[in-house]
Amino acid sequence: MEIDPDTIAQPDRYKLLIGCITPRPIAFVSTVSPDGRANLAPFSFFAGVGSNPMTLLFCPANNADGSEKDTLRNAKTVAEGGTGEFVVNIASHSYAAKVAGAAEPLGYGESEFDLVGLAQAASRIVKPPRLAASPAAFECRTVQVIRTNPGAPAGGNIVIGRVVHAFVRDDAINERYHVNPAALDTIGRMGGLEYCTTRDRFRMPMGREALG
Ligand SMILES: Cc1cc2nc3c(=O)[nH]c(=O)nc-3n(C[C@H](O)[C@H](O)[C@H](O)COP(=O)(O)O)c2cc1C
Repeated sequence: MEIDPDTIAQPDRYKLLIGCITPRPIAFVSTVSPDGRANLAPFSFFAGVGSNPMTLLFCPANNADGSEKDTLRNAKTVAEGGTGEFVVNIASHSYAAKVAGAAEPLGYGESEFDLVGLAQAASRIVKPPRLAASPAAFECRTVQVIRTNPGAPAGGNIVIGRVVHAFVRDDAINERYHVNPAALDTIGRMGGLEYCTTRDRFRMPMGREALG
């Protein structure tokens, strides 16, 4: 099938993206509102950007009415009315149902931490708490928000964050900063309502050596 994205409906463009870009890691993002109310939501449009400085991004799309999701309202820069801070928690299999549960659209200021029953732990540098159960968390300051279609339903937004502190549970990392994938036990999002684990792993050298 050859597809011109401009001739198909937005939900079908979304289906193409989430069906083909797989598996997607999940940023389980905690934020606070400018008046201090905690928020937690999963975002699978999520990636690392670079390590000098340590930078990552996630993409909260606009709501169906074109408004910003609570996470974006909170994480956008102070100049834009937000707090300029967020924490990316890793989504682990042991609390997978709570990751999906935290996607429940609540009123602004209502906490998904309470809805799904996950405990908060104080962050070291930023105000938003990290998730106590998460084996790894990145405390971030928002560098920039890039909006691809401001105010439009499903318009995309890229939140770029500089990592100012990282937490990795002691059993999940060694003294050489090698992270144990079995201890993280991350889940990924596929198309539709499907998810995956990282239990079917394989090794390969890089470059010519990989060719045998
Ligand atoms: C696993 C998972 C991944 C998600 N990824 C995204 C995403 O990348 N971008 C997005 O806008 N919404 C995504 N959602 C939906 C949001 O989590 C949902 O809209 C949530 O209510 C936003 O919360 P907030 O308004 O508190 O920010 C995802 C939902 C789930 C369950």
